[in-house]
Amino acid sequence: MVEKLRTIVISTFLLNTSELWKRLRVRKVGIIGCGAIGTVITKAVERGTVECDELILYDYNMEKAEKLKKSLHFPVTVVKSLEEMIKSRPLVIVEAASQQAVKDYVNKILAENIELIVMSVGALLDLDVKSKKIHVPSGAIGGLDAISSVALAGVDEIVLTSRKNPKALEMDNQEEKIVYEGAAEEAVRLFPRGMNVAATLALTTQPEKVKIISDPKVHRNVHEIRIKWKHGDTFLKFANDPHPENPKTSALAAWSAINLLKETSEKVSNKSMTT
Ligand SMILES: NC(=O)c1ccc[n+]([C@@H]2O[C@H](COP(=O)([O-])OP(=O)(O)OC[C@H]3O[C@@H](n4cnc5c(N)ncnc54)[C@H](O)[C@@H]3O)[C@@H](O)[C@H]2O)c1
Repeated sequence: MVEKLRTIVISTFLLNTSELWKRLRVRKVGIIGCGAIGTVITKAVERGTVECDELILYDYNMEKAEKLKKSLHFPVTVVKSLEEMIKSRPLVIVEAASQQAVKDYVNKILAENIELIVMSVGALLDLDVKSKKIHVPSGAIGGLDAISSVALAGVDEIVLTSRKNPKALEMDNQEEKIVYEGAAEEAVRLFPRGMNVAATLALTTQPEKVKIISDPKVHRNVHEIRIKWKHGDTFLKFANDPHPENPKTSALAAWSAINLLKETSEKVSNKSMTT
């Protein structure tokens, strides 16, 4: 009887302390870059899509971070540097800034054991960093599970064709025009802000050919991936609405980051509960 009573008292105590710990713990998410993607992510956090109690925002253009903070009805801290963001101990940091930002910040973030979601994937093609803490969203495409499966079996040909409105490529051609045909790495180098899809694909498997078409007739960012492989043909097509303030960026890219952030923050948050 005494033993039973003791077990009840101990379990009630443990339950209460875990509940108390849950309430005391502030789950923070850091966002580097308060542009198109950073804004869509923070709005989703505000709506409760992601487990988060406080957002930490950093943009080297402080005005953009302050403007975004003002538009949110959610606890937000704007920081002046990456170091300040790291000091605030976010569970996850999302890079939604630029390839240069990835190059400058990745090692500092990994050294602090913080999970990092990288949007500017092109930077990873040049960097020699491997870590389970780096997470890459599928971005403006999908089906990467099928692509990596067929790559294991043996691929005969992979062609990525991206068709965009000239505005999304900073061009002003009036007729359809092929602007690039060649290797994925070169496409990423020539269009660092607009060809993240080629980089994402190159990190999964090596596309044979990347073709970029500037087409005034399309108003969506259209990516087609054709694969001929050992046991069949695969065709994937994504026609994405561009972000109204940044036509280079597709809405799907921001939502893939939100999906990955949701998964990652839940995982880290549960892990920190049990350790
Ligand atoms: N993975 C994908 O499929 C995918 C799709 C679209 C865009 N992207 C990439 O994601 C990144 C963000 O895209 P976006 O549309 O939000 O861009 P954006 O230009 O709208 O916003 C970027 C913001 O980051 C800030 N910034 C840039 N460099 C910085 C740095 N070193 N430190 C701090 N702040 C910095 C800028 O001031 C700006 O406010 C870009 O690199 C873009 O190429 C990836």
